[in-house]
Amino acid sequence: MLIQEQRVLEAEIIALADKHGRKRSALLPILLAIQEKYHYINKFAMQEVAALLDIHPVEVYGVVRFYSFLHAERRGSVMIRMCRSLSCDLAGKDAVARQIENDLGIKFGETTADGRFSLEYAQCLGQCDRGPALLVGDQLHAQVKCSQIHTILEQARAAFGVYPLRHAGVAHSPHFHYDPMAGRAS
Ligand code: FES
Repeated sequence: MLIQEQRVLEAEIIALADKHGRKRSALLPILLAIQEKYHYINKFAMQEVAALLDIHPVEVYGVVRFYSFLHAERRGSVMIRMCRSLSCDLAGKDAVARQIENDLGIKFGETTADGRFSLEYAQCLGQCDRGPALLVGDQLHAQVKCSQIHTILEQARAAFGVYPLRHAGVAHSPHFHYDPMAGRAS
């Protein structure tokens, strides 16, 4: 990371600490804000946060490692999380997961070569009676079918400006905004 980039990040973290307070309870909101902008939290950021909140960097690293929504390594711009808990498993999650892998050309745990999408499994997304459940960025999709995957990915590409949506106006899947802090859809 360049010195100039470090200075920018440092200033952003100071602003976040000013906003959320320089206390232990501010740790998660600050980390989520860094994650949202950079898609991961590097060592420099962890050290800066630790210094500002007066906690040990190892504790910050532990929090980053504990929460599935936080990452210490660079991830794609769009995180795609597929629920692999029991209800979604029984509802046919495996077939949907294979369809996503085929469409993106990557396996779960990987990131596309263009850095746009990362694919990973998650635990329950709060849609157990409406599985399989899929979280694309902050859009939660329920009762997902293989036939919907192409459109869901196209919508995600369009939302992130990768290229124009080829099937505009087609929205098969009910979706909601997902709040990782609350761990539920709204
Ligand atoms: S089991 Fe998949 S959303 Fe709960």
